[in-house]
This record gives sequence, C-alpha cells and structure tokens, in this order.
Amino acid sequence: MTAPKTLGVEEIDLSDLAFWTEPWPMREAAFHTLRNERPIAYFREPEFEAESIIEVPPGPGYFAITRHADVVEISRHPELYCSGQSGSTIVDMPQEFLEFFGSMINMDDPRHSRLRRIVSAAFNPRMVKSVEESIQSAADDIIDKVRDRGECDFVTEVAARLPLKVICDMMGVPESDYDLVFNRSNVILSMGDPEYVPEGDDPLMAFLNAGNDLAQLMQELAAFRADHPTDDLTSDLLHANVDGESLSHTELASFFILLLVAGNETTRNAISHALWALDQHPDQRSKWMADFEAVAPTAVEEIVRWASPVIFMRRTVTQDTELSGHSFSEGDKVILFYNSANRDEDVFEDPQRFDLLRNPNPHVGFGAAGPHFCLGAHLARREITVMYRELFRRVPDIHSTSEPVRLRSNFINGIKHLPCALSGA
Ligand code: HEM
Repeated sequence: MTAPKTLGVEEIDLSDLAFWTEPWPMREAAFHTLRNERPIAYFREPEFEAESIIEVPPGPGYFAITRHADVVEISRHPELYCSGQSGSTIVDMPQEFLEFFGSMINMDDPRHSRLRRIVSAAFNPRMVKSVEESIQSAADDIIDKVRDRGECDFVTEVAARLPLKVICDMMGVPESDYDLVFNRSNVILSMGDPEYVPEGDDPLMAFLNAGNDLAQLMQELAAFRADHPTDDLTSDLLHANVDGESLSHTELASFFILLLVAGNETTRNAISHALWALDQHPDQRSKWMADFEAVAPTAVEEIVRWASPVIFMRRTVTQDTELSGHSFSEGDKVILFYNSANRDEDVFEDPQRFDLLRNPNPHVGFGAAGPHFCLGAHLARREITVMYRELFRRVPDIHSTSEPVRLRSNFINGIKHLPCALSGA
C-alpha cells in the first residue's frame, strides 16, 4: 500500500472544501500533524463557492481544536465556551436561520436545560428499551425489501431507512412523508454537495427552504395532535409539562428539525461506515459474528469512534481565557474536531486500528461529557446493534461491492452510496 500524501502543517487548510474530498488516510495524516505540531490552529473562515442572496458577513476565522484533552475541557465548561452565539456552524448563522435551526444545540442555560429537561424523558435508556421491538421490526422490514434482489445501495436502502423510520415513528410522521424528511435532511446537512443542491442553485436558500418544509410538516402534525393526542412524542411534547413549562409551537418545530437531522444522518453514517470497515477488517467481522451479544457493546462504541459521523461542533469563547497555553479572547470561535480527538494517540492505543473489543474507549463521537452530550446516544446505540444483529442473522454474507461514494462535507463524515451484494443464504 502506498503511504498517504502528507501535508506540512503550513499546507493544511481545513477551510478549503477540497481538503474534505481528499482520501481518508490523507485527512487522518493531516490531523495527526495538527495534533502534534499545532493542536490549536487558526484558520480563516470557509468561503461559499456559490452566490447567495442571503448575506453572510465575513467572520473572524476560528481555532481548530484537535486534541482529545482540549475537546473534553471545552465541552465541560459551557460558561467559558458557549453554544448560543450564532449557532454551531463555523460561519455565523444568518438571522433568518435561527427560527428553524435555533433548537437546544444552539442554546445555553437556562433555556438549554429547560428544553432538555422537557424532552429528555423520551430518550432515556428505559424509553429506548421500550421501542426495541419496533426497531427490530423496522430492521426486519428493511432487510425483507432488499433480500431477494441480491444487491442494493446499502446507504439509501438499508442504513438510512432505519433511523428515518424510528424517528418518524416516534414523532408520528406518516410513511408518505418519509421521502420528504429524507431529502430535506440531506439538503440541510449536505453543505452544498452537488447531489443534493444542484450546481448553480443558491445553497443557503436551499438550506432555508428545507428547514421551512420540515417546520411546516411539524406544524401540521402538531396542530392535528393538539386535538387528537396519541402516544407519539409529538403529542407528549405538546402536552409535556415540567414544573409548569411546555414547548411552544416554534420550539417544537425547531426541536423536530434538530431531531430529524441529528438523528438521521449520524446513525445512518455510523451503520454505513461499519459495513465498509467490517469488509476491510474481516477478522473483526468474524469475531463479532461468532459471539454477537458479547461483542456488541464494545463494537458499537468502536463503530462510532471509527466513523466519527459528526466531524465538529462549535463553541464561542465568552471571556478571555487560557487553554493548554493558548490565550483566547472573548468572541473567538473554537471548533471541536471530534474526528481528530477520536484518533488521539495520547488517549487511544494504536488509534488507526479498528478494534471491536477496544476497552476502554473514551471516544467523543457523541460529543464529550457536558450539557450538550448527544441526547440520542442510547437510541443510536440500539439502532446500530439491532441493525447488525439482524443483518448477521438474515443476510450474513452482505458485503460492499465497491468503494463508498463520500459526501462532500466538512461537517458530516458521510457516505452517500455503498453498493453491496447479499444472498440471504
Ligand atoms: C451515531 C449516531 C449519532 C452521533 C455520532 C451523534 C453525535 C452528536 C454530537 C457530536 C452532538 C453534539 C455534542 C456536543 O455539542 O457536545 C450531538 C447532539 C445531539 N444529538 Fe446526536 N448523534 C447521534 C445520534 C442521535 C440520535 C439518534 C438523535 C435523536 C433522535 C440525536 C439527537 C441529538 C440532539 C437532540 C443533540 C443536541 C443535544 C443538546 O444540545 O443538548 N443524535 N449528537
């Protein structure tokens, strides 16, 4: 195998979209260099390639945080590194966006904890256990649809279908709207990948319109559920009352968008990366298949570490402060690169080894400990486990037949397509 092209520290430009289309090994090598030579590195803001009618004023640039210890430290100090200033994207979110994309991920206390308190009951391990059966039957249906065909696109027909169905069922979205949800969440997280936002279209308008479509879907659903409550999450949230508080319709719509986007793209990519990784590491696959239940708990964590589906989250510095010898000023943007923290040699032994038995595995794929730690982590773990349990049981020979087609994004480590073959024998 040829060694990946290595960039010198001065040549690395995380703001250049072309960097994110380079082969994975080259990307890994660049983050290795950053961790070792410039763990808190300054970059100018990324520029949009396409014109937009929505004005985005030029920003001050950002600091890329690439070491595990620094990502952990920033995540647990929201009073110094906040989330509520101009969104969790690198470029400040234009005002127009905050209505749809202003949910808890972009909030600080006391609003954040209030919202999180209201919604968290639906995502605790007990609740997730209670939907295990429906996750199982959803996985079965998905496999039924592709089993006899002998081949399929693993991403769009298998991996993406499970989180989509689970989250839509939880919220009470009818099956006829699944494709709308799938398409709009692709647009929101694609960051202008030409497959989802065609060349020449205004990417910011596409983003805004996608948010608008999802908000409208939620508003219709909420209006119906207000009069016809059932046992879905939408009904619960509409009537949720914690210490006399409940969600307003606007809060409900933006929470719904966050859930759809956060819950779909991430879990889908973890499941897709897993198939590719298992194919590249047949020894690991055999180990897991030989004793599925015993290996599953560590396997799932390793899949999330390996895939790091969410590449980064942003925080903004609230007051002058210091971290690992670096002085930050109020207003500085810090970008937590989870993909890099998850390969940090100071924390993970042989981090480039895919090891389903890795233990301990203090990865930050779901974020590091702190108020914003992934709300859906238990659910995602269940979905990944159930999907692979069913795949190994019903189509044990499933394997990819060509290289993954990757999403062009600096935010989601996405696989758009992964052709696979399966016989069900
Ligand atoms: C493998 C799958 C997943 C990964 C890798 C993932 C990753 C993340 C990350 C990195 C964060 C930000 C943490 C931070 O800023 O400190 C986050 C937050 C969040 N995730 Fe996930 N996630 C996954 C699945 C899900 C699912 C299935 C749901 C819900 C259905 C979900 C809902 C959320 C929500 C609501 C937040 C915001 C929490 C807050 O701000 O308090 N995620 N997730």
